[in-house]
Amino acid sequence: MTRFQSKLVDRLNPYVPGEQRHGNSVTKLNTNENPYPPSPAVLQAITAVTGDDLRRYPDPEAIALRKALADYEGVSVDEVYVSNGSDETLGLAFMAFFTGKKPLQFPDISYSFYPVYCDLFSIEPDPVALGEDFSLSLDAFSSDAGGIIFPNPNAPTGMAVSLDAIESLLQRYTEGVVIIDEAYADFGAESAIALVKRYPNLMVTRTFSKGRSLAGMRVGAAFAQAHLINALAAVKNSFNSYPLDAIAQAAAVASIQDETYYQQTTLRIIDTRVRLTEALAERGFSVLPSAANFIFASPGPTSPSAASLFKTLNEADVLVRYWNKPAIENWLRISIGTDEEVDRLLDTIDQAASVAS
Ligand SMILES: Cc1ncc(COP(=O)(O)O)c(C=O)c1O
Repeated sequence: MTRFQSKLVDRLNPYVPGEQRHGNSVTKLNTNENPYPPSPAVLQAITAVTGDDLRRYPDPEAIALRKALADYEGVSVDEVYVSNGSDETLGLAFMAFFTGKKPLQFPDISYSFYPVYCDLFSIEPDPVALGEDFSLSLDAFSSDAGGIIFPNPNAPTGMAVSLDAIESLLQRYTEGVVIIDEAYADFGAESAIALVKRYPNLMVTRTFSKGRSLAGMRVGAAFAQAHLINALAAVKNSFNSYPLDAIAQAAAVASIQDETYYQQTTLRIIDTRVRLTEALAERGFSVLPSAANFIFASPGPTSPSAASLFKTLNEADVLVRYWNKPAIENWLRISIGTDEEVDRLLDTIDQAASVAS
């Protein structure tokens, strides 16, 4: 009954997340989830939540979680924001910083939620081209942009930019807010959180969904000077003042407190990333240098195409991500799973290659 919906709904082109197929036979390497469960301390914290905790509204300021994050990152509590996944922070930030401004710049191959938010909030997008090798040059951003956002490492390429390059950008770009989306920074990129105290227009967003195995819990965070955090809170409190539930707050605090577990699982993922990169290179794939928990890989000329491999893998219950878009139509994004999951992926690729030859 389209006559009941607003013109806004007619115009929207919503984000489509990767498929959530369930079952023991499924090898899920399509949504960059962590293959390892969260720390046992997180599960304990969840079960320690009482009926009384649930009867009441959660702390709208999430002070315990913000304090844990502030101590961990060496900033003050008023420089930390937390949200229901980092997507929520990003959405609030688009509203708080980019509406009514000049066009927003972001890499043309990047997180596909950015153009969706532009659409929702009527912000003009101004995509900036990556190099032919998929590298992102921060010099390509205009000093005149209404705002700048990019992931570091970038998605779906997995390639990171250096902290020096970020600092050069911040020195020359003062016109609007720069958001660095560090969803995948746990796995190798240099974090820009250390620059927050020096640059009043910098916001860094992080998530508990990847490095901390809590995608199902929905916890995200932002780091910026207090004036930017207050702007986010003003938008949040005009929309839903309790986005982060009591269980999520307790779970996230426990996760931060178990540094050993976080380091162990992160290092395992990095080891498997190296192994998968080498194994695909041996099979003739081009694989971009990844600092994330996924790789972006393109089959060689003698292999089945990315589109055909995607289909074969999908039919074998091995899920990876494929976009039929210019410049990346022969590339697959593959999340790093356990070693066993990666072996299954490689076996299925080998079978597809032998059928094709
Ligand atoms: C680049 C990037 N940013 C942000 C997010 C959002 O993560 P979440 O909302 O789970 O924190 C994702 C999720 O895949 C992502 O790829």
